[in-house]
Amino acid sequence: MKAVIVCVSVSHGNTLRVADAMAQPLGARVVSPEEADPGELAAAYLVGFGSGVFYGRLHPRLTAFVSALPTGPRTGGKGAHAFVFASSGLPETPVMPFTRPLVRLLEGKGFDVAGTFSCRALDTWAPFKVVGGLNKRRPDADDLSAARAFAERLRDARQVRR
Ligand SMILES: Cc1cc2nc3c(=O)[nH]c(=O)nc-3n(C[C@H](O)[C@H](O)[C@H](O)COP(=O)(O)O)c2cc1C
Repeated sequence: MKAVIVCVSVSHGNTLRVADAMAQPLGARVVSPEEADPGELAAAYLVGFGSGVFYGRLHPRLTAFVSALPTGPRTGGKGAHAFVFASSGLPETPVMPFTRPLVRLLEGKGFDVAGTFSCRALDTWAPFKVVGGLNKRRPDADDLSAARAFAERLRDARQVRR
């Protein structure tokens, strides 16, 4: 069984770099929502969902994709595992994480969400553009190594069925 990562990365390719780092230990294919194969997703033991953060939310293309997924049991009647990740200009707050609404949506679709990951990345949203952007040169090697380590933990977790 396979792992798949569905990623929307429209601004600077920041989230795609994070997704590619996670894909290595998982042996996962990284696809856009439009490229995702419903059969491949239904059969995957682990599915990652990630995007940049725009006006406090994950990208609407990602949310719309998850909203349209069928609800119900997956992979032999048990919940398939998922994870959610984001890259953002500002740090995620523990009170209102960027990832939480998508986590809730996935749980409602029958996924067992095994973890979330976020990291800072280049942000050229209007107020920061004038100074050449926030978090220049991020995600950096440390961010990508943290993303890889996160994926390795999911891969090695006993509760994530393969
Ligand atoms: C129009 C716009 C709005 C943004 N809004 C937010 C925001 O509300 N919070 C935040 O932390 N970052 C915000 N960002 C920064 C992006 O989340 C960040 O650059 C992200 O890494 C983009 O990912 P991508 O290159 O994969 O698309 C915004 C960026 C743009 C261009």
